[in-house]
Amino acid sequence: MSSNESVSKLADRHLLGNYRRFPIALAKGRGMHVWDESGKRYLDFVAGIAVDVLGHCHPEVVRAIRQQAGTLLHVSNLYHIRPQAELARELTKQCFADRAFFCNSGTEANEAAIKLARKAMSDRGEPKRIEIITTLASFHGRTLGALSATGQKKMKAGFGPMVPGFKHVPFDDVRAVEQAVTSKTCAVMLEPLQGETGVNTPSKNYLKELRKLCDRKKILLILDEIQTGMGRTGHLFAHQGMGVTPDIMTLAKGLGGGVPIGALLTTEKLAATLGPGTHGTTFGGNPLVCAAGLAVTKIVSAKAFLKRVQRAGSYLKKELKKLGDRTGVIQNIRGEGLMIGVDITLPSPAVASACLERGALVNAIAPNTLRFVPPLIVTEREIDRLIKILEKSIVSIQKEDAPS
Ligand SMILES: Cc1ncc(COP(=O)(O)O)c(C=O)c1O
Repeated sequence: MSSNESVSKLADRHLLGNYRRFPIALAKGRGMHVWDESGKRYLDFVAGIAVDVLGHCHPEVVRAIRQQAGTLLHVSNLYHIRPQAELARELTKQCFADRAFFCNSGTEANEAAIKLARKAMSDRGEPKRIEIITTLASFHGRTLGALSATGQKKMKAGFGPMVPGFKHVPFDDVRAVEQAVTSKTCAVMLEPLQGETGVNTPSKNYLKELRKLCDRKKILLILDEIQTGMGRTGHLFAHQGMGVTPDIMTLAKGLGGGVPIGALLTTEKLAATLGPGTHGTTFGGNPLVCAAGLAVTKIVSAKAFLKRVQRAGSYLKKELKKLGDRTGVIQNIRGEGLMIGVDITLPSPAVASACLERGALVNAIAPNTLRFVPPLIVTEREIDRLIKILEKSIVSIQKEDAPS
């Protein structure tokens, strides 16, 4: 078989068809840009779906990975691993948590959170408290536990039965949570801002009220910061901008700056629940991914870096608003920092394809919703360029649709 065979042909023949892909193969990346196999350059406002927080091939991340790759790639959690312990120190230094557990993805971090919450109740003498309240339109991952937690029916179709013990209530509705709490409830689990359903932003006091409710009912608050964490919202963790502290937080996506890593962070008291032999993973927290995580964490946790994210996010929102005024097709600009969603009266997949043609990657997250989650290093000039490409794309679709 020729090595020059097109990727799409190879993929069609050998890969599962579970992803809907654009007809390009990305081969190289640097900073805010990626290049396809033909050498065409794209401005990247997708960032591997909110993963490449420092852009592509950030020199500090590459240096850390190169150095670690030449030293030790993988051992096992049978032994101490210095980069893992150091990453735990750096993350816990920055937030409510005292201890960290590392795994390989977001869904796995949420599995760990679900198991920890249930076992914590069992350890406290309340083994019947197994229910977790989550929100409609949430996304927590694709493994059966995390999928059961997810509040979207369409993702579960055909995969039943789901894991029992999950109740779904509307997002941004404290009363609905209160009504759902019973003597069987062990935790409330949610994203501070819902990412996969188009950046749903709750009202100002929602999380604070939820925190109070959880305290009153003596149940745990689990925050899935897999998408919102690592600076995405202009705070290292989104809850820090919302004035609340969870009992358990999960991370993934941006944490490794492009290498697969997930994490659960929690308090000293709850951490005691998962003693030796209770939970684990072969690859979780291996030296390579933790070296990358350390490099990322050191950069994104700097106050000046987070301020820049806030400024860039405000600028992007402002320019999207102006674009909406000029074109009349953009509404409901929402989100925090560089996690922004907009509704668009044109079909968003057509807009994303038109942008691709003109050299920009944007994410059509729902039929009439675009999501912008660029690398957090994006500049105003790059935002200006995106807006120009978006505008040209919108105008071209409007022209095609205009009656002749
Ligand atoms: C909020 C949230 N939770 C969990 C996940 C699942 O993470 P992963 O795809 O790494 O398993 C995602 C992924 O998009 C997410 O956005």
